[in-house]
Amino acid sequence: MFVLDEAVDKLVRAGRIAGEARDYGASLVKKGASAREVCEEVESYIRRKGAQPAFPCNFSVNEVAAHYTPGLDDDVRLAGDEVVKVDVGAHIDGYIADTAVTVDLSGRYGDLLRAVREALENVVRIVRPNIRVYDIGRTVEATIKKYKFKPVRNLTGHTIGRYMIHAGESIPNVPERSMFYKRLRPGTLFAVEPFGTNGRGYVREEGSANIYSYTGRRPRTPLTPEESAVLEVIVERFRTLPFTPRWLAGELEGKVIVEGLKKLERRGVLVSYPPLVEVENGIVAQFEHTFLLLKDRVIVTTKLD
Ligand code: CO
Repeated sequence: MFVLDEAVDKLVRAGRIAGEARDYGASLVKKGASAREVCEEVESYIRRKGAQPAFPCNFSVNEVAAHYTPGLDDDVRLAGDEVVKVDVGAHIDGYIADTAVTVDLSGRYGDLLRAVREALENVVRIVRPNIRVYDIGRTVEATIKKYKFKPVRNLTGHTIGRYMIHAGESIPNVPERSMFYKRLRPGTLFAVEPFGTNGRGYVREEGSANIYSYTGRRPRTPLTPEESAVLEVIVERFRTLPFTPRWLAGELEGKVIVEGLKKLERRGVLVSYPPLVEVENGIVAQFEHTFLLLKDRVIVTTKLD
C-alpha cells in the first residue's frame, strides 16, 4: 500500500526514468547492435538520472518472450530482422517502475505488435480504483484475439511492492474465472504486461539463467567464505531485487561469480530466472506499463506524454 506523498513522488519519478530508458533502449535496437551494448546503455541511463535498475534490462528476441539478459560471456548481436522486447525497471529507494516495448526490425510483424500495443492501451483506458483483475484479462485477450493472435497464457502482470518486483498477486492476460471477484484497491501498484504470439500461447523455461534474486532465506549449514562473500555483495547492493552476473563483474572475479551463484542457488539462497521461450517458437510481442491506483485516480507511471 502506497499512500504517502513521498512514496507517490518517488514512484512517479522512477516511472518517468524507466519510460525514458525504455524508449532510449528501443531507439538503439538496430542491425548490428548487441544486447550487451543496449542493456548497458539502458542501465547507465537509469543510474545517471538518479534511479537504480530494478532488475537487469531484458533483451528478449523473437520466440524468447522474456528473461534474457546478456551473461558474463554471452551476447546476442542483431542480424536486422528480429522482433526485440526491451523490458526495463527502475527504482528510487525501492519504489519501482516496470515497463516494456517491442521493436520489429523485420517489418513483418506489424499486426502482432499492433494487437499487443492496443491491448495495453485498452487496459489504460479502463483501469480505475477497484477495477476487477478479471476485466483486465478479458480486455487483453479480446484485443489480441481480434487480430487472430494468442495471448501468452502463462505470463502475467503482477502487483509490485517496495523492493519487490512481484508482490504476490498476478494480473493474467486472459480472463481467469478464479479472479472474478478480485479487485485492485486504492494504494495498489501493479504492472500490466500483455504478451501476444503467433505460436501456441505458452512459454517454458529454456537455456541457462543470467538473472537471479535473493530469496531472503539463509541455508541450514554455514556458507563457505566464497559463498558468504558473494552473498554479502548481493544483499548489500540488490536486497531481494533481481540482478545479473554482469553487475558483479567489477567487484568479483568471473569464476567466483558463476560458481558462487550456482552454489547459492542449489542451497535455496538464490533463485534463478531462465529465459522463457514460446513452446512452438512463435514470435512474441510485449508491451508493459506500471499503474498506481490512488483513491480517486490512476497514475500510469511509465507512460510519457
Ligand atoms: Co513486469
